Amino acid sequence: MFIQIKNVSKEYPDTNNNAVQVLKSIDLDIEAGEFICLLGPSGCGKTTLLNLIAGFEKVTSGEITINGKLAVEASSKHITIFQNYGLLPWRSVQKNVELGLETKDRSKSERKRIAGDFIELVGLKQYARHYPSQLSGGMQQRVAIARALAVDPEIIFMDEPFGALDAMTRINMQDEISNIWQKKKKTIIFVTHDIEEAVFLADRILVMSPNPGRIKSVIKVPIARKRDRTHPDFLKIRNKIFEEFEMKEKEKIEYYL
Ligand SMILES: Nc1ncnc2c1ncn2[C@@H]1O[C@H](COP(=O)(O)OP(=O)(O)OP(=O)(O)O)[C@@H](O)[C@H]1O
Ligand SMILES: [Mg+2]
Repeated sequence: MFIQIKNVSKEYPDTNNNAVQVLKSIDLDIEAGEFICLLGPSGCGKTTLLNLIAGFEKVTSGEITINGKLAVEASSKHITIFQNYGLLPWRSVQKNVELGLETKDRSKSERKRIAGDFIELVGLKQYARHYPSQLSGGMQQRVAIARALAVDPEIIFMDEPFGALDAMTRINMQDEISNIWQKKKKTIIFVTHDIEEAVFLADRILVMSPNPGRIKSVIKVPIARKRDRTHPDFLKIRNKIFEEFEMKEKEKIEYYL
């Protein structure tokens, strides 16, 4: 198994220095190439779980292994994409995408070629010489995705990467990341609040509940891609998740407003 999470708990101190259990008894195996979505309400520990797997934080008990090795520190084989893109404003699109390749043993021309390929993959060939401030939010997020893919990571972590985008752009980005995943088959661990986004993207959805953060259920999405958001199979899984959250009819309506 590629990633193994065994009986993991995480505590943080509160303001009085008392231990607060943020994650409790998390057990999970993730296969290489899987697209996993962590879904749950604010504060249920999604970011914490992602940070533990990525090695940015340490478990309080239990263990996480990746390829059999304890995940206790961040690795250059893993890339995280944040909501705010993390682009360097003084670098062009081309130079931003080359960034991660500069620490690797690559010649200048090789870096240029690899970055160019990934810029093309995310549909920004005409924008290679532009600067981040000249691009829309969706385009900037595409640059961040190109930059992440360029270093050929084993795992891509994404923490609500499309949260700041408007609804239409968000749908386009979901299409794009789904296409890219089909081409590259990277392991992706993707945090979201958005039920539909999770059903559209994931092989498996981890539905989490808060206080303390737990995996409430694991929902497989056995629907071929590209997924149709209006197909009965899609709606069936979406409704199943609504039930997991015990949403009442009124709350469902509010969710969609
Ligand atoms: N460094 C920290 N110190 C103390 N408490 C923390 C720390 N990081 C997170 N927490 C607490 O752990 C809980 C889970 O936080 P986390 O950020 O993982 O939630 P989340 O599911 O990602 O929420 P959101 O959807 O709002 O991003 C919260 O109650 C938060 O206050
Ligand atoms: Mg979070």
